Amino acid sequence: MLQITDLHTYYGESHVLQGVTLAAARGTVTAVLGRNGVGKTTLCRSIAGLTPARAGAVVFDGNDITRTPPYRIHDLGISLVPQGRRIFPSLTVQENMAIAVNTTRSQGWDLQKVFAVFPRLAERRQNRGNELSGGEQQMLAIARALVARPTFLILDEPTEGLSPMLVAEVAGVIRRLKDEGTSILLAEQNAAFAVKVADYVHVMSKGVVVHSTDPVALWQNEEVKTQLLGVPAAVSPPNTRPGT
Ligand SMILES: Nc1ncnc2c1ncn2[C@@H]1O[C@H](COP(=O)(O)OP(=O)(O)O)[C@@H](O)[C@H]1O
Ligand SMILES: [Mg+2]
Repeated sequence: MLQITDLHTYYGESHVLQGVTLAAARGTVTAVLGRNGVGKTTLCRSIAGLTPARAGAVVFDGNDITRTPPYRIHDLGISLVPQGRRIFPSLTVQENMAIAVNTTRSQGWDLQKVFAVFPRLAERRQNRGNELSGGEQQMLAIARALVARPTFLILDEPTEGLSPMLVAEVAGVIRRLKDEGTSILLAEQNAAFAVKVADYVHVMSKGVVVHSTDPVALWQNEEVKTQLLGVPAAVSPPNTRPGT
């Protein structure tokens, strides 16, 4: 569904993505892992058109979107849940979503469905963004992306700053979206979380993908785990995957 080939992205003269190549298959969860500063957010932004690449290609559903403006990429079905959530603090939960609703696609999420799946947001619907907890803000950021009715959802560090209980809740949401046919690209530092929900994983280091494999094989690779993912050697493998 998404094919990225030899992508190079800069901030001014700073060459951040130095030839990223990866693919994300339709109907799957594809994780992009790596330590802080390797270029995960830059990759998400390049796909969404917010920081366009200077060289290489992003092809989505057969369309070359490398230099397509962000609003057009959004219309094609890609929604980004940015790192740090970026919800509107002075708008209510309901208003944050209402401004994102896509009425041009007949199928998909609307406010009613969001409130059914995220009961916490339903309770908080009249609260303003700045009155929400970190976990509630993350759920709202995901919900806001969903009402745009994407076929491809990019989640940039959705578990950052969340308690283990809320991390588990985000995992549940990701599995549900996948079951409903949404394809997902998940950028994460939290490898232990990502391998539980991903079908395939790419590991980045210094602006390139250095390792692409399935989650079980990744978790068995002590060298990659300790050197590229910062997972302490003592952490035991998750014994419950996928889908649990
Ligand atoms: N707006 C920016 N201007 C200049 N450099 C940036 C900017 N955003 C990120 N960088 C740099 O690009 C590199 C990759 O950052 P980022 O994509 O945020 O990594 P990650 O999401 O993996 O932590 C880092 O060295 C970071 O300092
Ligand atoms: Mg980031």
